[in-house]
Amino acid sequence: MSAPTATPLATFELDEDLLTLQQAARDAATSVLAGTLKEDDEQERFRKEYIHALGELGLCGVPTPERWGGLGLGYRPYTVVLEEIARVSASYAVSVAVTGLPQMILVNFGDDAQRERWLPGLASGELLGAFALSEPWSGSDAASLRATAVKDGGDYVLNGTKFWITHGGYADLYVVMARTGGPGPKGVSAFLVEGDAKGLSFAKKEEKMGMRASPTVEVVMEDVRVPASSLLGAEGTGFQVAMSALDSGRITIGAVSVGLCQAALDVSGQYATQRRQFGQAIVDFQGVGFMLADMACKTEAARLLVHKAAGLKDAGRAYSEVAAMAKCVATDAAMAVTQDAVQVMGGYGYTREYPVERYMRDAKVMQIVEGTNQVQRLVISRHLKRRYEQA
Ligand code: CAA
Repeated sequence: MSAPTATPLATFELDEDLLTLQQAARDAATSVLAGTLKEDDEQERFRKEYIHALGELGLCGVPTPERWGGLGLGYRPYTVVLEEIARVSASYAVSVAVTGLPQMILVNFGDDAQRERWLPGLASGELLGAFALSEPWSGSDAASLRATAVKDGGDYVLNGTKFWITHGGYADLYVVMARTGGPGPKGVSAFLVEGDAKGLSFAKKEEKMGMRASPTVEVVMEDVRVPASSLLGAEGTGFQVAMSALDSGRITIGAVSVGLCQAALDVSGQYATQRRQFGQAIVDFQGVGFMLADMACKTEAARLLVHKAAGLKDAGRAYSEVAAMAKCVATDAAMAVTQDAVQVMGGYGYTREYPVERYMRDAKVMQIVEGTNQVQRLVISRHLKRRYEQA
């Protein structure tokens, strides 16, 4: 069976410019990533050069302002690009999203010297970025983190362990959240730490169910000395930096999940149209056709919600609540749609001959990263409570 080429549903909401960007991202993802997907998944191999290649085509800095080397196109175009990359490889779409997090942080919280130093390299894909918030004892309760940063003359000295770090050991820049003050969110500050800083080391690389081409690594800081100019914003603002980065990161994870939905729908839809049993294509059995219909509904609904969150952000409106909804709905959709794609394809779907088993394994973690879907529901319910209290 040939690779599915069907485009998503008529995308009335994309104008000519976005359709051109969508096609460019689709072509780039196919030419750069498609060749080694299966082997990289099996061998858990990440190729940094692929990020360089995507970056050369402008895809690593879509929302970063042109002044700092990005395309300056905002988050709606960014979600279009991420969806297309994820249709080929969710691992690399997450890489592009993660290297985008420090860019978003630098644009919003950095000073010009920090932006000049890092943004052009990150936006062009020449450099790789990472975001280091979680710790072995601090996941959903991010404000309980224990890593410390102690002022020493003109420097800060960082100690602690960061867990689940995408690009650990590969990144050129880590945005690290560490404690400069007392317990709780107000004691946290954000720092820029270079990948080759003395005292920075990389311990366990996780062996994962999915996203196997994306490295997830334990990062250890032992007396890592950084100049005071590495502090992002003011001391004690690191938790807000992290939370607002996660707000926008949640839109990107939603977009990656929509890409997974679309890929799974394309492969299983084409299969169901070609596969014949009992004298007819299995898509003509209502049991299968209706499954595909439900998968298409979930995909389109998720896409619209991701676009809404991105549109609100681009318009400068409050988007935290809708970003949490988009992340929640799109990642739950990705899990359901990829699982149903395996079901539609029966035994073939369960084998590595087809990519849908990989899509299903990749989808699972989307319900966990950038805040579990339970955390998203917490964020949404807190917004609801505040609104109803004011009513
Ligand atoms: N933007 C800006 N500031 C925010 C904010 C937001 N979205 N959300 C909260 N804050 C501020 C609050 O205003 C508050 O400050 P003030 O007291 O001055 O008002 C402060 O932060 C504390 O807020 P909360 O009391 O709401 O904090 P909390 O301890 O109850 O935590 C939480 C809230 C939503 C559960 C948060 O801890 C959270 O999001 N947890 C999940 C963490 C997460 O997503 N981790 C993923 C890590 S990255 C990853 O997965 C993968 C990767 O490789 C990138």
